[in-house]
Amino acid sequence: MTKFISLKTSLPGPKSQEIAKRREKYIAKPMGSSLSPCYIAHGEGALVTDVDGNQFIDLTGGWGCLAVGHTHKKVVAAVKDQAEKYLHTDFTAVPYESLVELAEKLVKLAPGNTPKAAAFFNSGAEAVENAVKIARAHTRRPAIIVFENAFHGRTLLTMTMTHKAMPYKYHFGPFAPEIYRLPFPSPSHPMANEDFEKILVNTVTPESVAAIVIEPIQGEGGFNVPQEGFLEYLRKLTDKYGMLLVTDEIQSGIGRTGKFFAIENWDIEPDIICLAKSLAAGLPLSAVIAKKEITDSLPGGCIGGTYVGNPVACRAALEVIKIIKEENLLGRAVKIGEKLKERFLEMKDKYSLVGDVHGIGAMMAIELVKDRKTKEPATQETAQIVQECIKNGVFIATAGINKNLLRMLVSLEITDEQLDEALDVLERAMGKV
Ligand SMILES: Cc1ncc(COP(=O)(O)O)c(C=O)c1O
Repeated sequence: MTKFISLKTSLPGPKSQEIAKRREKYIAKPMGSSLSPCYIAHGEGALVTDVDGNQFIDLTGGWGCLAVGHTHKKVVAAVKDQAEKYLHTDFTAVPYESLVELAEKLVKLAPGNTPKAAAFFNSGAEAVENAVKIARAHTRRPAIIVFENAFHGRTLLTMTMTHKAMPYKYHFGPFAPEIYRLPFPSPSHPMANEDFEKILVNTVTPESVAAIVIEPIQGEGGFNVPQEGFLEYLRKLTDKYGMLLVTDEIQSGIGRTGKFFAIENWDIEPDIICLAKSLAAGLPLSAVIAKKEITDSLPGGCIGGTYVGNPVACRAALEVIKIIKEENLLGRAVKIGEKLKERFLEMKDKYSLVGDVHGIGAMMAIELVKDRKTKEPATQETAQIVQECIKNGVFIATAGINKNLLRMLVSLEITDEQLDEALDVLERAMGKV
C-alpha cells in the first residue's frame, strides 16, 4: 500500500498519450524525450499529479531546481504579487529594488570577507559564460581550465567546457578555443597534488590561464566529491599563478549539500561563484557573485541582457532565501542526506549491483556497476531501474558520463514518509533488476 503514490490509470494515461501525439508532431526532435511519459497538472512539495490524476513522488526536482519544492506557498504569493505590479522593465531601463536586495542578500551570504558584487542572468550556462568573460577581462588572459566529467551548459562556450560529447556536442563544432581539460581528483580517482600541477603546466602555460572553473561537487558528472584537500590546494595553485578560482554551484548550491553555498563545505573563498537552478525555485534566474575588485575592473555595460534578473524571478529568489532560513532547510538537507546514505548502504549490502555511494548532504548518488572490482558501468540496468521506478510512481534522475548513477535532486521539503515510500519503490526496482 502506498500513501502518496496513487496510480489510477496505466502509464501514460489517456490524456498524457494524447498530448504526446501532439508533441511528436510539433516539438523539435533535438529537444529530446522526457523522463516522465506523463504530463504534469499540478506539483506540490515533492509530489506531482499528472493530467490523468496519477500522483508521483518526484526525486528529480526539475533537475535540481526545486530545493523549496513545487509551488511553495510563499514563492507563489510573491510571484503573484509581483506579476500584478510589473513583469519586466529591464533593470538597465527602469531599475527595481528586488534585484538590489537580492544582490545584497547573496553577497552577504557568500563565504569570505572580501567585498563582493553580484550580476544576474537567466540560465546556468549564461552565468558560467559571464564568469568566464569577467575572468578573462580582469586577468587579460585567454585560457580556461575545466575538468573531466564537467557539465557547464550548452552554449558554444559552456558546451565546449562540458566534457561529454554525445549528445551535448553533437556535430556542434567548431568549439570555443582556449579550453583545457584536466583530471578531477576524487576518492575513487585520486591523484597527488604535485602530479596535477605537472599535468597543468604541461598542458597550458599557467600564466595564460584566466581561471580554473570547477563544480565543487560534480552534478551531471556523477556527484563526484573532490579528493580531500584538493579544493584548498586549487586555491593555493590559482593564487600562485595569478589565475581566478571560479566555482560552478549551479547544481550543488542553494542548500542541497547542507550549506547555502556548496563551497562552504570547505574553508576557502573563491573569486567567482555561479548560481542558478534552485535560486528562484525553478524560475529562470542565475547569478554570478564575484570579488568586487574583479567586477570593478570591467567597464559598465559590458555584460547583461534584456531579461536578466527578471523582477518576478528576483522576488521568488528572495522568498527561497527566506524559506531556507525559516524552515532550516540546511539542517533538513543534512538529515535527508543521512537517510539516503543509510538506505543506499543497506542496498549496497544487499545488491552487488551497487558499487559506491557518494555525495554530500542531500546531494547523494548511488553508482551501479556490473562488477565491483572492474567498476564496469551498469548503464542498461540503471535505465531499467529508472523505468521500473516510474512505472511504480517515482521519478528519479540518472547521472554520470556512462549514465550509471542514480542521483538525488529531491526537494528539501520532502517528508520522511514520502522519502521512505520513494526509497521502498527504488529498492524493489533494484531487487527486480
Ligand atoms: C553544474 C552546472 N553548471 C551549469 C549548468 C547549465 O545550466 P542551464 O541548464 O541552466 O544553462 C548545469 C545544468 O545542469 C549544471 O548542473
